[in-house]
Formats: sequence, structure tokens, C-alpha cells
Amino acid sequence: MKDTHKIMILAGDGIGPEAMAEVGKIANWLNSRGDIGLELEHDLVGGASIDANGVPVTDATIAKCKEADAVMLGAVGGPKWDGVDYNIRPEAGLLKVRKDLDLFANLRPAIVFDALIDASTLKPEIVKGLDILIVRELTGGVYFGEPRGIETLPNGEKRGFNTQTYTTSEIRRVAEVAFDLARKRSKKVTSCEKANVMESGKLWREVVTDLHKNHSDIELSHMYADNCAMQLLRNPRQFDVIVTDNLFGDILSDEASMLTGSLGMLPSASLGAEDPETGKRYAMYEPVHGSAPDIAGQGKANPLATILSFAMCLRYSLNRGDLADKLEQAAQDVLNKGLRTPDIMAENCTQISTSDMGDAVIDQLGELIKEAA
Ligand code: IPM
Ligand code: MG
Repeated sequence: MKDTHKIMILAGDGIGPEAMAEVGKIANWLNSRGDIGLELEHDLVGGASIDANGVPVTDATIAKCKEADAVMLGAVGGPKWDGVDYNIRPEAGLLKVRKDLDLFANLRPAIVFDALIDASTLKPEIVKGLDILIVRELTGGVYFGEPRGIETLPNGEKRGFNTQTYTTSEIRRVAEVAFDLARKRSKKVTSCEKANVMESGKLWREVVTDLHKNHSDIELSHMYADNCAMQLLRNPRQFDVIVTDNLFGDILSDEASMLTGSLGMLPSASLGAEDPETGKRYAMYEPVHGSAPDIAGQGKANPLATILSFAMCLRYSLNRGDLADKLEQAAQDVLNKGLRTPDIMAENCTQISTSDMGDAVIDQLGELIKEAA
């Protein structure tokens, strides 16, 4: 048996648990073969935690996340909790995990799988082979800036307000991640802000420009975020790594995911800083898609984004890029064989359930491992 890695599983709400069950199957399968030692622990987040504990994530759960080698999160939210108090909404649980673990770098790849190219709403010649990585700052900006609130003015009118703030170090550390990742890819970073109207954007541009002096092997360009939104539709392949703040990253990553036509396919990783002494880095992996309450519990969910998030976990937290490569390949092969969950169903393909998709990935993984041996 290899070293044991502890993974904290927060399956959450809606389709989260059923998609995560497929990761559980894959993990057990890898364990049983002795390919890796994984210890999975389960806990609640989002609406599931509100129902059980009155809050979307407890401090005890956060503590367990910190002890684990990595966290895998399914999805949070659903109409059942739409009416709950703003501070304890399911989304607040997700934001608390991000903030308490200081997961400042959110990696969101947007990859067009050849087998799914017709699912994109853009012309195939625009998106073929697309492979963008959005690095979104995740623990700062307007999501967390103070002051914030809704106040009543003397004239009885209400005023809602939030604050966009970024410090030099917050910008530097996320830009550093973007430059480092670009080095392993096409060596191009596009930094996006609104330096033309926002001071925080002006500082963002200055800090990234300054840091670039240490990364002169990487080609850096700056782009206003609105222009970036437009360029993503006009000519998305001009991009390699895009680094941007929390709010622009939220929007641009949704846009980029849709270029691929398969939101149900996209994984993400949220990483903290590496502890210089222990080398340990907090990390959470989650699909980009939401909890899709309308199809929950019907075996219709596409588990591939969660499975591909597990591949990112193998690569970035467990140092098993070899297994991550095979798992990603297995997912592609299954698509190439024409197996599809309903969300990506196409002509001449075979529609299968969530659980069948997990089984198909395991079968294919078995083939790939056999071939390599
Ligand atoms: C995301 C989501 C979250 C965000 C919500 C659920 C709080 O949209 O991860 O992109 O805005 O960050
Ligand atoms: Mg979002």
C-alpha cells in the first residue's frame, strides 16, 4: 500500500452527491488495486448542512478540511434554501471554505473536447482545440470587501453597497500562480481588469507589470475585462492563461465554459499558498457547474466535471499526475466511444446514466492502466 492521502468529501446539494458517488467508486477502485491509498471522509456543506446544523458549513467541518490533504466539493444550493437568511445561504458555506482555507487561486480550465465540438454554440472552426486556463482570484475583491451592506438613507431610500479592494500582496500571489502555470503551457498570460475606471484595476495592472520582470520568459498582455468578454467570443484561441479578479473571473469563467458547450464537463481547483516549512497547501476541487436541482436524484447528472476535478486533485494535491493523465484520457475515450449523459447527448450516441458513466470511466481506466503495464 502506498502512502495514505486523506480526502474530505463535501458532496453538498442537488446533483452533488450523485456525481460525487462516481468519484467514490473510482477512488475505491484505485484503492483496491493498490494504485494509491485514499482515505475518504464525508461531511456536509450547503443546504444539507443548513438542514442538519443550521449553518451552511460548521467550524468542525472547516477544521477537518484543514487536516485533509484535499477537499472535494460537489455543488451547493437549491430552491429549498432560497428564502434563508442571506448570511447562511448555501453559497455562504462555499465562500467560507474558500476564505477560511485562504484558497486564493481558482483554476478554471475551458477545454473543448473534440467529441463534443458540435455542442458549442460557436462555430467549430472558432473553438476547435480550445484550451484556456482562467486563474481567478478567489478570496478578495468585492466578494469580501468591507464596508458592505444595505442601509436606509435619511430620505427613507435604501442604499446597497460593496467594496472592491485589492492589496499588492493579494494581486502578486495570484499573478505568480498564473505566470508559473503559463510556463507549463503556451507561455502567455492575459491580465484583465478595468484600470480605465477603477483604482483597484490600476493597481492590479501596476503590480502584474512589476511582477512580470521576474517572469520575462512569459508573454504578458493587459486587457480590459469588458474587451476580454468580447474577445472570448470573437477569437477565443488567442488566449492561454487569463488572470483576473474575483468578480470578473466569476463572469469570464462562465462565459469561457460556455464556449466549450459542455458546462457539465468542466472541473476547477482552488489552491492556497504552499507552507514553506511543510510544503502543504490547502486545496479544494469542484466542478464548475451548479447543483441542478431540477434533475437531481434521477440518474441524469453528468459526473464527468466532478471526475475531472478529482483528476486535478490527483495532479495538484496528491502529486499523482500519472493517474490524473490516465483519468482524463479515460474520460475522453468514453466520450469518443459515443457514451453520453443526457446533457451532452448527440446523434448516433448512446445515452447512459450517471452511474453508467462512472462505470464506463473505470472500465476505460482499467484498459489504459493495462496497456501501460
Ligand atoms: C462560482 C459561483 C459562486 C461564486 C457562487 C455560488 C457563490 O458562481 O463558483 O463561480 O460566485 O463564486
Ligand atoms: Mg460563478
